[in-house]
Amino acid sequence: MKKILEKLEEIFFGHVGICILLLCVVPFIFVSHGLFREIEVEQQPFDVGTEDLIVVGFSQLGSESGWRTAHTLSVQEALTKDTGYFLIFNNARQMQENQIKAIRSFISQRVDYIVFAPVIESGWDTVLQEAKDAGIPVIIIDRMVNIKDDSLYTTWIGTDAWEEGRKAGRWLEGYLREKNRQAERINIVVLQGTIGSTAEIGRSEGFEEIAAMHENWRILESATADFTAAKGKEVMAEMLCRYPKIDVLVSQNDDMTMGAIEAMQEAGVSFGENGQVAVISFDAIRDALEMVDEGHINVDIECNPVQGSYIDMIIQKLENGEQVERSYVVEENIFTKDNVGRFLEDRTY
Ligand code: AHR
Repeated sequence: MKKILEKLEEIFFGHVGICILLLCVVPFIFVSHGLFREIEVEQQPFDVGTEDLIVVGFSQLGSESGWRTAHTLSVQEALTKDTGYFLIFNNARQMQENQIKAIRSFISQRVDYIVFAPVIESGWDTVLQEAKDAGIPVIIIDRMVNIKDDSLYTTWIGTDAWEEGRKAGRWLEGYLREKNRQAERINIVVLQGTIGSTAEIGRSEGFEEIAAMHENWRILESATADFTAAKGKEVMAEMLCRYPKIDVLVSQNDDMTMGAIEAMQEAGVSFGENGQVAVISFDAIRDALEMVDEGHINVDIECNPVQGSYIDMIIQKLENGEQVERSYVVEENIFTKDNVGRFLEDRTY
């Protein structure tokens, strides 16, 4: 390194030149590696022509899954300039601290409404109190918050994660009945989503509620793969090494399922219809529904990401001084090979 610097000095600059070079290059390396990385929250929403628009700050928890992309798009498509909104978007990259910073930034920009999808349930009391003190209504979407004072938010829009977990359990009851395997010991592994998130808590508890009714069901292990395909593959590969006989995989989202399927393929373990491992997935994004159709996933429990139009409807009501409900639960379906064909054509995400 010393030799290279000396050579550079000789060829191009004196000492001053080298210093300038280092001053330019070192910060660039830091920034490009994220060492000085700040969350990017747009600071100037009120540009010319936007005075009449309703300003909404939207803190999305991340972009960890195909479902999340569809969820973000649903909000962005509903809250546009044409529909009367100026949307300030922030992606928190799965970090609660980034969401808190984004919400504080929205408060300091005096947005009209704050919309946010919380990464986990706990830890929101202080920042939501700050929003309330600033008089900004908060609309929570997708996952829930666990706070002491419920008046800190206006309403919640999302899915029933507990019912989703129960649906998975009830499907398994029917499947085992059909195969006449009610008396056999059934080994189950569970890939959980982000620990502490509503989707993880609800799906785990809902499924366990049904599993507790069946002495022959054995949950060998529940482990988190954080709702991502890469971790789904990694965690499933480890489980396949630990447990030679797995009968059922319950994977709490489609991305983890796809990763887990890759792990099973690599390990030479059969899965899906007629395979050794029955695959239960959640979300029902298009790619996964195709896999249901092909018989690679046995059942997909829908988690509906289309929540943007609810936000618009709620804000319009609030603008007109009307009451809104405390919560809105979106409709959801269950997909198996028997019915998936009817839905595939219209699936846009
Ligand atoms: O909170 C909803 C869950 O979060 C979806 O199941 C998952 O794909 C997402 O990342």
